[in-house]
Amino acid sequence: MTTREDLAKWDAQDPLAPLRDLFDLPAGTIYLDGNSLGALPRATAARVQEVVTREWGAGLIGSWNSAGWIDLPHRVGDKIARLVGAGPGELVVADSTSVNVYKVLKAALAIAAADAPGRNVILSERTNFPTDLYVAQSVAREHGCELVLIEPDEDPADRLDDRVAVLMLTHVNYRTGRMWDMAGITAQAHERGIVTVWDLCHSAGAVPVDLTGAAADFAIGCGYKFLNGGPGSPAYVWVSPRHADRFAQPLSGWMGHAAPFAFTTDYEPAPGIARYVSGTPAVIGTAALECGVDTLLAAEPYGGMVALREKSLALTRLFADLVDERVSGFDIESPRDDEQRGSQVSLTRPEGAYAIVQALIARGVIGDFRAGQSGLPDILRFGVTPLYTRFVDVWDSVEHLRQVMESDEWRDERFSQRLAVT
Ligand SMILES: Cc1ncc(COP(=O)(O)O)c(C=O)c1O
Repeated sequence: MTTREDLAKWDAQDPLAPLRDLFDLPAGTIYLDGNSLGALPRATAARVQEVVTREWGAGLIGSWNSAGWIDLPHRVGDKIARLVGAGPGELVVADSTSVNVYKVLKAALAIAAADAPGRNVILSERTNFPTDLYVAQSVAREHGCELVLIEPDEDPADRLDDRVAVLMLTHVNYRTGRMWDMAGITAQAHERGIVTVWDLCHSAGAVPVDLTGAAADFAIGCGYKFLNGGPGSPAYVWVSPRHADRFAQPLSGWMGHAAPFAFTTDYEPAPGIARYVSGTPAVIGTAALECGVDTLLAAEPYGGMVALREKSLALTRLFADLVDERVSGFDIESPRDDEQRGSQVSLTRPEGAYAIVQALIARGVIGDFRAGQSGLPDILRFGVTPLYTRFVDVWDSVEHLRQVMESDEWRDERFSQRLAVT
């Protein structure tokens, strides 16, 4: 049986261990929520200070040119592209994930209407993140389409028929961490003339992604989770070069115009991905996002996403095994199969999930809780971030969980009071 001493040795031998120093982590805290909000990179505070005081304060409006603010969404987009198997000039930082879902769904429907006319179904999954479904509901209404949702135990491949215009999936599920086979599903969708939209919120920086290799069509994702961009960080959008120039996206703002500073009356989309920018970029947030993305690129000399993935799998496997061995009363909702698991372990229990997470947080072990929906159970989520999560952190977290359960500490009334953000 594995002991804490064994795990301390694993940490001592871990070639990725030095990357933890890139983060400013509070002492006495085990942070297992980088799948919700990534931790603060050490470089971010100084960089944001520089943007605010030197570039904005001293440089004023001239910094759009002299500090390169105008190119920032593309420069940071190119860096994110390296993490998701996209080429330079194919991915741009812009808006929020929700807004980008709207843009790409509309563009995907336009492509489907041109290439395979007469289809009226957007296919997605019931346990997709709600914002994706809410936006898809609006888009479906606007287009007179039907939004059809597969159940968690269904295979999307079984539902791909010639009524489906667009298949919109989240690559790694926010509740369970289950990961779809992007290349396989995209190929099956393409065989039936269906356009694909992939949400990479829980994938970019967490698992290797190869958008080009998968021949995917559209992808979107956020900056604040595994990319460590900070709260409210801007999101990103990728469009296959096969499609980028074919349609103007619907939020046709001036920053996606071919010549924004010509101030013409009529919209003319910029070539390529630049048209997916709508308004003025969020400079401070994008500068912070760049620091976050840089923490992942710093892993390149150590083997990059492949090495991070190997460690992530070892961490999540360990977490699940230790829960099996040392704690009773929980089911493990995340897939046991490495191929199908993202960078988190989700547990379920008939009662007390919220209170147990709160009791752990009071002990300095930060995971989170996601309410059950549509007959699905409440979930305790524990995300691992191989850049900074240590093997002993996994041991200590499970030990805290064991103690919280055995002492009934979680039943203390204060842990049941729901906060605004769970
Ligand atoms: C898969 C997925 N999509 C979208 C979002 C959120 O979208 P937004 O960044 O617009 O808040 C989340 C947030 O957790 C998510 O997990």
